[in-house]
Amino acid sequence: MRYEERAVEQTAFGEVRENAARLESLIANGPIVPTVTPEEIRSYLTSRYDFTKPLELDDVIADVEEMLRKWQVHVTHPRYFGLFNPSVTIASVVADLIAAMYNPQLATWRTSPAANEIERHTLAWLAGKFGLPSGTLSNFTSGGQESNLSAVVVALARRFPRLGECGLRGLDVSPVIYLTDGAHHGFLKIARMAGLGSAALRTVAMDKNLKMDVADLRRQVAEDRKSGLAPLMVVGTAGSTAAGVIDPLPDLARFCRNEDLWFHVDAAWGGAAILSPRLREHLAGIDQADSLTCDAHKWFSVPMGAGMFFCRHPDAVSSAFESDVAFMPGKTAATLDPYNATAQWSRRFIGLKLFLALAERGESGYAEMIEHQARMGEVLRGSLTRSGWRIINRTPFPLICFTRDGLVTSQFLTELYKRQIAWMSEVQLDSGPPVLRACITSFRTTEQDIEWVVGEMSRIFTREEVLSS
Ligand SMILES: Cc1ncc(COP(=O)(O)O)c(C=O)c1O
Repeated sequence: MRYEERAVEQTAFGEVRENAARLESLIANGPIVPTVTPEEIRSYLTSRYDFTKPLELDDVIADVEEMLRKWQVHVTHPRYFGLFNPSVTIASVVADLIAAMYNPQLATWRTSPAANEIERHTLAWLAGKFGLPSGTLSNFTSGGQESNLSAVVVALARRFPRLGECGLRGLDVSPVIYLTDGAHHGFLKIARMAGLGSAALRTVAMDKNLKMDVADLRRQVAEDRKSGLAPLMVVGTAGSTAAGVIDPLPDLARFCRNEDLWFHVDAAWGGAAILSPRLREHLAGIDQADSLTCDAHKWFSVPMGAGMFFCRHPDAVSSAFESDVAFMPGKTAATLDPYNATAQWSRRFIGLKLFLALAERGESGYAEMIEHQARMGEVLRGSLTRSGWRIINRTPFPLICFTRDGLVTSQFLTELYKRQIAWMSEVQLDSGPPVLRACITSFRTTEQDIEWVVGEMSRIFTREEVLSS
C-alpha cells in the first residue's frame, strides 16, 4: 500500500473515533427512556420512506440518528442500570466498521486467513485466562443464547454418537439437563429447539443465597437414573441474569466428574471477571467446565452481537457441526473450518471488536474497567442502604436487587422513567414479590451519577402513588 492511501484510511477511521466520542457525550447528556407508541413510529416511517425514489444519504443518516436518539432506551447512558447491555469502547465500534467494510467471510479458513487467525488468537488467549486446556475449541457466536445452544447440542453429540444420524427418536433413553430457576430462561427455548422438550429440564433447588443446592442436585440425578432417564448436563451459572449469583462451581465440577455428567458454565456476563485480580477468585472451578459461555457484548463492553463458546472436547464439537460439502473452498490440514465447528454457516468477523479493544486497553486496562464497575456496584449498595433501602441479593458483581416496605415497583419505575432519572428493571427472586434490579453496565457510570440517582429515588419514594395502599 502506498503511504498516501494509508494516510487516507487512517483519517477516515480517525473521524469515526471523533464522531463516536461526540455521540457518546450527546447520549450521556440526553434522555434515557423514550415515550413513544408503535403507531407514532410506524406513521413517521410510512410518511417518509416509501422507497420509490432515492434520497440523500446524509439526510437519511441524520434522520436515522434522530429516530434512534428519540426512540430508544439508551443503554450506553451512564445512568442505564439495566440488563447487561454495555456502553461500548470506541475501539470496538471502529472494529465493527472495519469488519463491515472488508466484509470477510469467516466460514472457511482459506477465504479469511487473517480474520480467522485474529479470532483464534483472541479466543486462545481468553481460554488460557479461564484455565481451559490448550486443545480447547472456541468460537465467536451471535450471543450467549447461541453459545448455550451449542453446549447442549455438543454435549448430546458426545454422549450419543448415533444422534447425528438417528436423531432423538433413535435413542432409547431421555436425556435430562439440571439447572436452577436462576439460570437463563433461554434454556427453555434451547430444550425445545434441540428437540428435548421442556420436560428434559430439571429445576434444582437453591440455597438461601440463590445458589444451586448440590444435595438436591444429587438427589434428583439419582432419582432420574433410577427411573431410567439419562442425566446429561449440569448448567452452573456464573452471574445469574436476575441477581448476579454464582453457583458453587467447584462443587458442581466435582459432582459432574464423579457422575460422568457434562459440566456447562454459563458465564455470559460474569465471565469477564476472569480478567480482574480482585474478582477472579469468585470464578474458581470455571477451568473444569466441559463447555463455557461468555459474551463479549456484555461486561467486555463491545457492541452486540458477540458471544463466545469454549469447549474442551473438539471431537464432540466436530461431530455436532461437521458438514463437509464440495462447493466450499478446500480445507487446510492445520485447522478446522468454522462452518464445520459452529451452528453458523456464513460468518461475520465478530471477534475483531474484542481483539481491537483488548489490544488497545491491554489486560490491565480491562481489569481497571471491570473493577471500576464492581466498585460502582459497592457505591450503589452503600448509598441505597444508607438511604433506607433493603438489599435482597448477595453477589460480588455490580448487580443490586433491592426494595422498601410498601413499594409498588411497577409504579415506582414509571415515575423513575418519566423523570429520566435512570433505567432499571424489576425482578422476582425465588417466587418472592417483585423488587428493583440495578446493574452497573457502563464503565462511564460515576459515583456522582449514583448518589444523584439514589437521592432522586428516595424523593420519589415519598410520593403516595408508588406505595401500596
Ligand atoms: C446468564 C446469561 N446467559 C445467557 C444470556 C443470553 O445471552 P444473549 O442475550 O447474548 O443471547 C444472558 C443474557 O442476558 C445471560 O445473562
